[in-house]
Amino acid sequence: MRYSVLAQVALALAGLSSTASAMGMGAIRRELRLAAEMGINPDHMLKRQSVPTQANQADSDNVVAKTVSLPIDHGDPSVGTYENRYWVNDEWYQQGGPVFVYDVGEATAEATAKQHLGNSTSFLVEMLEDFGAIGIAWEHRYYGESLPFNVSVDTPPEHFKYLTNKQALADIPFFAKNFTLDGHKEDLTPDAKPWVMVGGSYSGMRSAFTRDAYPDTIFAAYASSAPVEARVNMSMYFDQVYNGMVAKGYSNCTKDIKAGLEYIDDELSKNASAAAAIKKRFFGDGAEKNSNGDFTAALAGIFGFFQAYGVGGGDGGLGSFCEYLETDAATLQPAGPRGFAPYRGKKYVAERFASWPVFIDLVNFNYDTNCRQTDTTKPLECTLNPKSTDPDTISWTWQFCTEWGYYQSNNFGPHSLLSKFQTLEYQQYTCNRQFPDAVKKGLLPSTPQVEATNKQTGGWTIRPSNVYWSGGQFDPWRTLSPLATEDIAPQGVTFSTEIPKCGVETGEDRLFGYIMENAEHCFDLITGFGPGKISRGFFHEALKSWLPCFKAAGAVAGHRD
Ligand SMILES: *[C@@H]1O[C@H](CO)[C@@H](O)[C@H](O)[C@H]1NC(C)=O
Ligand SMILES: *[C@@H]1O[C@H](CO)[C@@H](O)[C@H](O)[C@H]1NC(C)=O
Ligand SMILES: *[C@@H]1O[C@H](CO)[C@@H](O)[C@H](O)[C@H]1NC(C)=O
Ligand SMILES: *[C@@H]1O[C@H](CO)[C@@H](O)[C@H](O)[C@H]1NC(C)=O
Ligand SMILES: *[C@@H]1O[C@H](CO)[C@@H](O)[C@H](O)[C@H]1NC(C)=O
Ligand SMILES: *[C@@H]1O[C@H](CO)[C@@H](O)[C@H](O)[C@H]1NC(C)=O
Repeated sequence: MRYSVLAQVALALAGLSSTASAMGMGAIRRELRLAAEMGINPDHMLKRQSVPTQANQADSDNVVAKTVSLPIDHGDPSVGTYENRYWVNDEWYQQGGPVFVYDVGEATAEATAKQHLGNSTSFLVEMLEDFGAIGIAWEHRYYGESLPFNVSVDTPPEHFKYLTNKQALADIPFFAKNFTLDGHKEDLTPDAKPWVMVGGSYSGMRSAFTRDAYPDTIFAAYASSAPVEARVNMSMYFDQVYNGMVAKGYSNCTKDIKAGLEYIDDELSKNASAAAAIKKRFFGDGAEKNSNGDFTAALAGIFGFFQAYGVGGGDGGLGSFCEYLETDAATLQPAGPRGFAPYRGKKYVAERFASWPVFIDLVNFNYDTNCRQTDTTKPLECTLNPKSTDPDTISWTWQFCTEWGYYQSNNFGPHSLLSKFQTLEYQQYTCNRQFPDAVKKGLLPSTPQVEATNKQTGGWTIRPSNVYWSGGQFDPWRTLSPLATEDIAPQGVTFSTEIPKCGVETGEDRLFGYIMENAEHCFDLITGFGPGKISRGFFHEALKSWLPCFKAAGAVAGHRD
C-alpha cells in the first residue's frame, strides 16, 4: 500500500486536542515546525481542511516501525523494560557509509520518520544520499508509542520518574551498541561505523548532548536551533519576535500591539464587569469565565506561527495580523511608522486587534475550543489555554516544568509584546495545574531545576568536538543556544565556519557554527529555504573532513568477533 505521509501529518495537525501552545516547543509550535519542514500550507491546518495529497507519493513502504527493548531505568534493570520505536531506511546505503540518527524529539515520530526517511525533499534524505548512509529515525521515550508508562491526565506522577534528560540520553547509546539490520552481515554498531546524530530544537540539543556524553557512540553531530542552556526566565523569546518584526518593517505593529495590550490590561484590572466585557469582545460568550492569565495567554496566539514561518504563515501568520492592524478599515491607508495608537488611541487599537477575523479560528485551533460556536454542530466551549490532554504535550510539559524551564513570560519594557499578566508566576501556575498530584506528593519541583540540568549537561558552554551548530537570526530559541548574543549569554564568543580538526574541541570562546540571516526556528532543515543549504553545506564539508579519522573500535582494541 502506498502511504500518504502528508495526509497523515495533516490529520495529526487537525486533530490535536487541547494543548498548552503558549508554552515553548509545545504541540502547536512543534507541529507547525514540522509542517514548515514539509512545505504544508498552514492555511489548510487553520481551517482544518485536509491537505491535498500529491499523486506522486514517495515510496515509504519499506520504512516501517521496529521496536527495541530498553530498560526503563538505565541504572536499575529490575524496574523492567519497554518497547521503543524506531524506523530505518538503507535505500541509499553504500558499503562503508556511516549511520545517521535523527531523534524526532518531543512528538509522536511516525509521520516525521516516514517523511524524513522516505521523501526526497527532506534534509535527512539529502544527507543520506550524499554520504551513502543508513538512516534511522528515533522516537523519544514517553512520546508516541514509546511508552514506559501510558501518558494521560491520569498518569500517576511516579510514572514520570524516568522521563529525565539523563535517562533519555542513555537510550540511543544502549540501542546502538546492539544495532543490526536484516540484509546486512557487517557490524553496523558504533564500534565499526561512524554514527552521526542530527536534529533541530530539542532534537538538536539531544544531538549535541549525546555527542558530548557518549562520544564512543556518536562520532559527529548537527545541532540546529538547539537551546542547550536550561533557564526559567525566557522572556527573551519575545525580544526576538520583536527584532524579527522590526526587521520586516513592522515596528508600527509592535507599537500598536503594546498600546492595545496596555488598554486591555487596564480593563482587566478595573473591575469584574470591565474585565468580562473585554474578554467577550475578543472571543464571545463564555470567554469571560477565563482568568486574566488564561485569556491573555490566548492573545499571544498572534505570535504562534512566528517561529515556524517568521512573519509569513498565511492567514494566521503575524504578517497578516500586522497588515490588518496597521491598515485603516475605511480608507485602506497604512498606519505609517508610528502606528495608529498615537493619534487614535489605545482603545481603537485594542478593538481592531479584537476584530481580526482570523483570530477566532486561530484560538479554536490552538485550544480545540469552539469559541463563538464557529462549529455550529458542537456546543459553545471557550476554555482558553486549558490543561493539556494530548499525551505528547503532557510529556513535554513534564520535561520543561521539571528540567528545562523556558518560561516565555512577557518581555516587560519598551519592546513588550505580551500582557502584564503573562508572568513567570503564571507559567509556573500552568505547570502546577497540569500536575496537581505531583505537586501534592512533592514530585514536581516548585520551579524547574535548571541549575542541576545545566550542571549535568554543561549548558551553552559545551564544546564537544565534531559538532556543528546552526541558528536563525530571529529564532526565539537562539537566545538559549551557544549562538546566543544577548547580554545574559556568555560574552566574547566567536562564531566561525572554519572547520575544527577532527576530534578537537574548540575553546569556550570559539564555536563552529553559523547564523542564517532573516531566519527563524530550524529554517536550515527546510530544504526549500535557500540559505538553509549554505548552513547545511558547512556541516557537509566538515563531516567529509572528519569521517576519515573515524577508527573502528576493533582497529584499536584488537580483534572483535
Ligand atoms: C514530500 O514532501 C513534499 C514537500 O516537502 C510534498 O510536497 C510531497 O507531497 C511529499 N511527498 C509525500 C509522498 O508525502
Ligand atoms: C496502556 O494502555 C493500553 C490500552 O489502553 C494497554 O493495553 C497497555 O497495557 C497500557 N500500558 C501500560 C504500560 O500500562
Ligand atoms: C543484543 O542482541 C542480541 C541478539 O539479538 C540479544 O540476544 C541481546 O539480548 C541483545 N542485548 C541487549 C542488551 O539488548
Ligand atoms: C527575565 O530576564 C530578563 C532578561 O532577559 C530580565 O530583564 C527580566 O528582569 C527577568 N525577569 C524576571 C522576572 O526576573
Ligand atoms: C467598572 O469600571 C467601569 C470603567 O471604569 C465603570 O464604568 C463601571 O461603573 C465599573 N463597574 C462596577 C460594577 O464597578
Ligand atoms: C506599517 O504598516 C504597514 C502595514 O499596513 C506596512 O506596510 C508598513 O511598511 C509599516 N511600516 C511603516 C514604517 O510604515
